[in-house]
Amino acid sequence: MAEQGKHDHRPDQDHQHGDDKHADQDDHSQGQHRAHDHSDHDHSHDQEHSHGHDHSHKHGESHGHDHKTRFHDPVHAAEFDRRSTMEGIRGSLTTKMIEMLSLSGNEWVLDVATGTGRVARPVSKHIKTGRIVGVDQALAMLDVGHQHKDPISSYSQSAGAADALPLKSNSFDRAFVSFSLHHFGNASGVVKEVIRVLKGGGRFVVLDPIIEEAKDAVDAALEAKINQVFRRTHGPEFRFHTASSIQRLLSKAGYRIPRTNILSYSFNQEGMDGIPTGRHWLEAALELEKETPELAERMKKNYFTWHAHGDHAHVKGSFSYALITGVKPE
Ligand SMILES: C[S@@+](CC[C@H](N)C(=O)[O-])C[C@H]1O[C@@H](n2cnc3c(N)ncnc32)[C@H](O)[C@@H]1O
Repeated sequence: MAEQGKHDHRPDQDHQHGDDKHADQDDHSQGQHRAHDHSDHDHSHDQEHSHGHDHSHKHGESHGHDHKTRFHDPVHAAEFDRRSTMEGIRGSLTTKMIEMLSLSGNEWVLDVATGTGRVARPVSKHIKTGRIVGVDQALAMLDVGHQHKDPISSYSQSAGAADALPLKSNSFDRAFVSFSLHHFGNASGVVKEVIRVLKGGGRFVVLDPIIEEAKDAVDAALEAKINQVFRRTHGPEFRFHTASSIQRLLSKAGYRIPRTNILSYSFNQEGMDGIPTGRHWLEAALELEKETPELAERMKKNYFTWHAHGDHAHVKGSFSYALITGVKPE
């Protein structure tokens, strides 16, 4: 079973360490989305994702990107929901995220890239008179959530791109994005859209797996290789962030960052079951071992060791996740 290590960074702590290659890479669509000033608050499960307003984006299309990810495939969407239990690491991170949202129950909460509503479901247990609105660009994912045998209370879905939210400005008390930031080609556009739809004083919690800050050229090459392997499955927009690159995204968009939690989970087990994104990490490790031993060594030093035997591999190491709160100034 994975163990958890925890660093709770308070605002007065300097968490900006290391060199970060990601700064400014996402800025290609800055300022394009201010025209979307319409509300989806009246969407409900029986509205089949209809927007009810004039909207320039077609369902299922990402904003400015043609790439269709596996999330648009109904078979993959169903499998995603079946496979990914909310126990273990994912459950523990979700519990922490809910705590950081600090809900009293009457809030309007935005779930950015809600997928099948896997994380909205436990969040909804903390909502009484408020509501959760889940936005996702993949109709296949929304459909799985819509038809789920365990419906989510106080939850509505809305189809749309996270960097062009089909939602009214200044209308949400809270927002979160879970396990999705690394999928966004335009992450800076997303955090800007979220700050637009949040009310002043509203709180946004980002939960995402993170990679180490690259400290030299070998780290940078390793990071490039890891991203390359993940892009084969998840498309060209995939990119892991570091804790400081997420902080930078948020502060550039105008958020105050009162809290950063870095949670590390160690594992020592057969295969990567139960470890979010673990399978592709192992794929990258096994490739590196064959192609670039120097990078394989660095992978072992920075993340985990592996011993392959037949179709299996014993893995031992740890992965880290960032939970970062951004607050929209009043
Ligand atoms: C790994 S899933 C996570 C879903 C959910 N947040 C969870 O934790 O279960 C990533 C989701 O991000 C969605 N997504 C990726 N890029 C998006 C974008 N630009 N706009 C809206 N949704 C996006 C995908 O369709 C997919 O449902």
